[in-house]
Amino acid sequence: MAGWKIPLSDLQLGDEERDAVDRVVQSGWLTLGNEVAQFEQEFATACGADGAVAVANGTAALHLACLALGVGPGVEVIVPTLTFVASANAVALSGGRPVFADSIGAHDLSLDPSDVERRITPATRGVMCVHYAGYPCRMEALLELCERHGLFLIEDAAHAPGASWDGRALGTIGDAGCFSFFGNKNMSTGEGGMVLARDPEVLDQIRLLRSHGMTTMSWDRYRGHASAYDVVRLGFNYRPSELTAALGRPQLAKLPANNERRNALIERYRAQLDAAGVPARMPFAGEVGSGHLAVLLVDEPADRDPLREALTADGIQTSLHYPPVHLFDHYRSAYGHAPGDLPVAEDLALRIITLPLYPTMTPGQVDAVCESVAAFFRGAA
Ligand SMILES: Cc1ncc(COP(=O)(O)O)c(C=O)c1O
Repeated sequence: MAGWKIPLSDLQLGDEERDAVDRVVQSGWLTLGNEVAQFEQEFATACGADGAVAVANGTAALHLACLALGVGPGVEVIVPTLTFVASANAVALSGGRPVFADSIGAHDLSLDPSDVERRITPATRGVMCVHYAGYPCRMEALLELCERHGLFLIEDAAHAPGASWDGRALGTIGDAGCFSFFGNKNMSTGEGGMVLARDPEVLDQIRLLRSHGMTTMSWDRYRGHASAYDVVRLGFNYRPSELTAALGRPQLAKLPANNERRNALIERYRAQLDAAGVPARMPFAGEVGSGHLAVLLVDEPADRDPLREALTADGIQTSLHYPPVHLFDHYRSAYGHAPGDLPVAEDLALRIITLPLYPTMTPGQVDAVCESVAAFFRGAA
């Protein structure tokens, strides 16, 4: 990425991806066809799922999962506030109300099951958990409370392809699992998404909804398998393209090795920063996820922005995951939220900083980032 000595993320694209794009161009068929079918099957197999539906992006995956599980007017779904806005938007776009819940704390930034429980009302139909940074949420507690209250569980696994909990792939544990293949994800097709669902009927609804609620696709008609169609439910154009699906196949093949590399780099970060004795910690110690993000939490909120500026001055790109969703203008005015509503996540959001991480990052680059962090705190002391 231009301009940065060490960018926040970088893709690993090579001959396999080039060949995949060539193959599609030569086939003369660019939308929903054989590549999509193959990608869906390979992704489902990799996750140990029976089936998968590829869609245009991760937001579409979440939106369709919500609709297929019955989210609509009068329905509340509990979502974490410390997530990308798409998680909450998917509930709202389905006509439901996203009810925000807090994070656990500095060691685990994900959804706090006890706060979820406190926010259940007679209108609550489900919970959407987000595997923040690719680490499994507290699945045991979430599954237990969803079962006890008769709620569905959607896993927003945008950060978590290839990660697992209790021997099960993340995204296969709840009623539906949604993935994003956006340009900064562990596997990327530029834009793209995937939905897994436990119930084949939910998956069928999602397949229907991704293409206008039509009973047959142009691919079936092209192959002569169908000549007419009906529209049985109001749907969308959330179809993936053959190009993105073809890119996804080699990206999926590379995922295990890339995730292993990401996890090794996170452990290097953790060891170096601990050894440097900086007043900052990486959460999720002792846990293994997909290695999506290298998140650092500074002890003092006042250090966060100056540290980012110091890293920028050293050519090191950083980011913030995430500003709490309930404090965005739209969510404040639509739902009456104000600072203080979700105090744990609000505090964490003032202290987080996301450090560079990508599979081709070298140990030397991790060391350079750690040295830059340590130098900042030496200077600040
Ligand atoms: C946690 C989370 N949920 C949902 C999304 C939405 O995915 P997309 O950008 O593919 O629509 C993203 C990523 O962008 C994400 O990080």
